[in-house]
Amino acid sequence: MTTSAATDTAPEIHKGLNGVVVDETRVSKVDAASNSLLYRGYPVQQLAGAVPFEDVVWLLWRGELPTASEKEAFRSAERGARALDPTLRSLIDSLPKSTHPMDVLRTAVSALGTLDPEPAKPSPDETYERALRVFAQIPALIAYDQRRRRGQDPVDSRDDLGYSANFLWLVFGEEPDPRDVEAFDVSMTLYAEHSFNASTFTARVIASTLSDLHSALVGAIGALRGPLHGGANEAALALLEEIHDPDRVDAWLDAALAEKRTLMGFGHRVYKNGDSRVPTMEVALGRLLDERPGQENERLRDLYDALQQGVLERKGLKPNVDYPSGVAYHLLGFDAEVFTPLFVAARVAGWTAHVVEQRGANALIRPLSEYVGKGYRDVPVP
Ligand code: CMC
Repeated sequence: MTTSAATDTAPEIHKGLNGVVVDETRVSKVDAASNSLLYRGYPVQQLAGAVPFEDVVWLLWRGELPTASEKEAFRSAERGARALDPTLRSLIDSLPKSTHPMDVLRTAVSALGTLDPEPAKPSPDETYERALRVFAQIPALIAYDQRRRRGQDPVDSRDDLGYSANFLWLVFGEEPDPRDVEAFDVSMTLYAEHSFNASTFTARVIASTLSDLHSALVGAIGALRGPLHGGANEAALALLEEIHDPDRVDAWLDAALAEKRTLMGFGHRVYKNGDSRVPTMEVALGRLLDERPGQENERLRDLYDALQQGVLERKGLKPNVDYPSGVAYHLLGFDAEVFTPLFVAARVAGWTAHVVEQRGANALIRPLSEYVGKGYRDVPVP
């Protein structure tokens, strides 16, 4: 019996694929050095608030901003696909009300795949058609679930409202304030795409096996759920609620850092000098706070600033986009458990663009590992 010869030189291991460039992409460019993020070449700061989120989705999928007729056709297709299939309503009703909304959404997107399967070897157009249906129904899925947990009846989508306004309408059942719609739309654009982050990479790994779109989206939702990724927006608000009093920040931080706690909403794998999306999201958050004067929100503003300052002074860490967006979603009235599903609603755009890109120049993603377990041994014979 021969065993393979041990290699003299151990391979270089890139834990967490840190610093590894695994493929090319044309979808977005994250440039940590210049603190910038480009979607198909356009700075996200210029897109957010100026270009409606639906048009940003088209840009990510098709590579260019829509022409007037493309815009019209895309909007009408999105509005026409918003209604929830009764099967999905029954499916959600069958889940315990205590189910985390991310688990509800993951289950519902998986079910959508059974109602809307992709053909074998789908063309990009066939993939985008299915993605549009997922994109159009996610607001209704999130709203249906939040309302049932709050004991409220569901409301139907409104064809006269754009994506973000309809989203707020569906969740809260009230005519949304245009200023709230704008802040929400900004957050959707900022969350829509971010190159090879963990969930997008998960989607690309799944697509690389020639699996279907819905499987890639479900896997991506699973990756996004974790608190080191999308789950950080919910976790960041929980930190602020735990501290509560701006005057407690210093003592709380000293204790938290002594316990080596992870400060949710701070730090980033790529940006080491600040997240490119934060300044734009902070402008939107500032407006939401200004529109809601009162002692409680002044406390929140002071707490937000004090924690940011304290973390910078002690750890040199800056906030990532999940820090301001969590607070913004809280002010808009969403339950904290719904924050990460809102991230999903936006990121479906980026995931889909990457699935199509991966399929267009596919190579099965299958890295190697260095075995460090026990050496060869025979099974003991009794
Ligand atoms: N709290 C405390 N310490 C931190 C944090 C943090 N949030 N982020 C980094 N550090 C420390 C880390 O402990 C390490 O210290 P040391 O060298 O003493 O061991 C050093 O900074 C380097 O950190 P790292 O873990 O090697 O950096 P990474 O690139 O692997 O981690 C990260 C990136 C996002 C996982 C991390 O910053 C983190 O856990 N942040 C909190 C979770 C979070 O907010 N995630 C959202 C990310 S951005 C939006 C999104 O994708 O959803």
